[in-house]
Amino acid sequence: MIRPILIHPDPRLKRLCDPIAEITPDLARLADDMLETMYAAPGVGLAAPQVGVTKRMLVMDCVKEPGAAARPMVLVNPVVTWASEDVSIYEEGCLSIPDQYAEIERPAEVRVRWTGLDGTEQEEQFAGLWSTCVQHEIDHLEGKMFIDYLRPLRRQMITRKMEKLKRDRARDGASGDGALRG
Ligand code: NI
Repeated sequence: MIRPILIHPDPRLKRLCDPIAEITPDLARLADDMLETMYAAPGVGLAAPQVGVTKRMLVMDCVKEPGAAARPMVLVNPVVTWASEDVSIYEEGCLSIPDQYAEIERPAEVRVRWTGLDGTEQEEQFAGLWSTCVQHEIDHLEGKMFIDYLRPLRRQMITRKMEKLKRDRARDGASGDGALRG
């Protein structure tokens, strides 16, 4: 089921998300919904707070090569255990901040540990777009968005555009709660 994506500014996007104590069928269903919502958007990553659930879970799939097999990933309670000193700069966007992009500098590679939906502990080192994406999504779990790395004026400009977008959508008969879809 595709879930509505919250649009910035929204207090639910600013909250510190809660650790997940137990993998339940409800959580697995949420992960499925988040992947479906992410692919439909389309996007390469989505964090639970973006669909209004303040829990520490994210999904991503950064496979971009045409014809390559998808690699849907679900990370529960992800933690960065190592970050490279080397940095890289990517033009980032966010499904909660439609059509706004900015170059953000982050560690080029990170190692992340998380719990899988099967309950097993997993750890992997990410590079390239995967690294940028996993860091961007983990930020969401801390109530942080990519625009928080920008200078205040630029951030305010983007926030004003989003406020206008939400007003326009509410007027055009969208759900009116800041939801992108549904
Ligand atoms: Ni985002």
